[in-house]
Amino acid sequence: MNVVAFNGSPKGAESNTHVIVDAFLEGAAAAGADVENVFLAEKNIAHCLGCFQCWSSPTGECVQKDDMADLIETYAAADIVVLATPLHNDNVSSHLKVFIDRLLPLADPYFAVDKNKETIHPSRGGRIPKFVMISNCGFPEKSHFQVLHLLAERMARNYKTEFVAEIYRGGGAWLKEPSLDEAVARYRNLVKLAGEEVVTQGRLSGETKAHLELPLIPSPDYIEIYRTTVNRYWDGVLGGRT
Ligand SMILES: Cc1cc2nc3c(=O)[nH]c(=O)nc-3n(C[C@H](O)[C@H](O)[C@H](O)COP(=O)(O)O)c2cc1C
Repeated sequence: MNVVAFNGSPKGAESNTHVIVDAFLEGAAAAGADVENVFLAEKNIAHCLGCFQCWSSPTGECVQKDDMADLIETYAAADIVVLATPLHNDNVSSHLKVFIDRLLPLADPYFAVDKNKETIHPSRGGRIPKFVMISNCGFPEKSHFQVLHLLAERMARNYKTEFVAEIYRGGGAWLKEPSLDEAVARYRNLVKLAGEEVVTQGRLSGETKAHLELPLIPSPDYIEIYRTTVNRYWDGVLGGRT
């Protein structure tokens, strides 16, 4: 089984997103999968021109010659694709969005109708990977991932596949906070387990999903503590507001 992660953080290997992706891939590899990690920020991927030339060409080739041809091959060889992103304006990062847009050659230009009588493009055939969404964000609450969850539902429909796991972590600044090393290590072990489960069972168990959603630190005041520490950080950078 091939598991490929496409990380859309502009910070690549230094990203908070990578803290999660790395653990997920470690778990997937421990369960026997071949894993690959792609930092989209290191790739040359132009914006989709919207010209539909890929749909006019029998080979589905894009007119733009950049890294995307290789990345589509990597994507198409995957059994599981991890779409990983920091939350930017409640949405995926622009790096990941450009990558997703450039997957257009994989769809067939014709219109068909899905089981809910909604219009859809058929796929061009070939293997369709299952998806995993991984994200972290600066705000502490889970509610900030509402758009991403809806996007996952729509992408599963558009790509005729399913999301076998969605791993969302609010309060992402804490993923690299040295004083929280132990808590982050515990969280990463849970993410590793998620990677193992997705490979061995094809899904996330209810128990792992529930554990992944617990706060990083077991305090009823963790949201307030997080806000205070972030504000203190900015006081340090800006010399305080008052
Ligand atoms: C352009 C931009 C937009 C952002 N928008 C949001 C947002 O809508 N909600 C949020 O909670 N955090 C937002 N953030 C904060 C990032 O999600 C947060 O810093 C995250 O931990 C970065 O992850 P990374 O290190 O993987 O890039 C934004 C950050 C940037 C740079």
